[in-house]
Amino acid sequence: MTARDTWNPTQYERFRAEREQPFYDLVALITRRPAGRVVDLGCGTGTLTAVLHRELTATETIGIDSSEAMLERARSLDVDGLTFAPGDISEWRPAELVDVVFSNAALQWLGDHLALFARLTAMLVPGGELAVQVPANFDHASHRLAAEIAREEPFLGAMGGWTRTFPVLPPEEYATLLHQLGFAEQSVRLQVYAHVLESSDAVVEWVRGTLLTDYESRMPAAMYQDFVARYRERLRAALGEQRPYFYPFKRILLWGRLPA
Ligand SMILES: C[S@@+](CC[C@H](N)C(=O)[O-])C[C@H]1O[C@@H](n2cnc3c(N)ncnc32)[C@H](O)[C@@H]1O
Repeated sequence: MTARDTWNPTQYERFRAEREQPFYDLVALITRRPAGRVVDLGCGTGTLTAVLHRELTATETIGIDSSEAMLERARSLDVDGLTFAPGDISEWRPAELVDVVFSNAALQWLGDHLALFARLTAMLVPGGELAVQVPANFDHASHRLAAEIAREEPFLGAMGGWTRTFPVLPPEEYATLLHQLGFAEQSVRLQVYAHVLESSDAVVEWVRGTLLTDYESRMPAAMYQDFVARYRERLRAALGEQRPYFYPFKRILLWGRLPA
């Protein structure tokens, strides 16, 4: 079965406040430069791309995403110098080199980060900056259990034996990679974001907006309902019924600047 577009902007934005903080922390790492060209890879609904464009006082910002559902929302934004286009990050290239390559919470969907980061670096002008945030929460029950259930039947068979790989590297490997790619300055950190959710059950709603879309896109809709039901049950057994629920979420924020 081929993967279909299961991104749902409304579900994704249910936890907007929680998802925004890492974005702002990432933007804070970038140098303010008037008249710059910026690309936002995996821009989603474009809400944050518009903020990025304004914060960096960029001349041109282009948001790239492979989900038509997300882009449809993005295209309703009417901001001077801000455009959106469909594209797959693994293949897309800018027409001209850019000053900033930015990506918030998207590159975890792509494999082979060594090759990917080399590609992204090649999009930059001398002195250009790369700023990326990726989740690194794969050892939390919320992520571990989804992967575990996906390896069980009937789900594994329905997905043609596909299993999800977690391409995110340890922070020190990104630091080494940035050095090898020629970044003269860099900052790489692992940060734990503290989210207080209404209940442990709310974790299901959180991951339905992101992580689970990967499984949803690969199985029939009715089977996906069973997947979520099994996930909810397993998560409840693992976390208990907590109200509120403290959801610690690890993320890696990395930034580098090429020599001028
Ligand atoms: C978790 S959302 C993040 C959206 C936005 N950057 C934000 O911070 O709100 C991830 C986005 O990456 C996009 N995405 C995932 N894989 C992609 C790929 N290979 N090429 C382009 N976009 C991709 C998804 O469609 C989704 O909109």
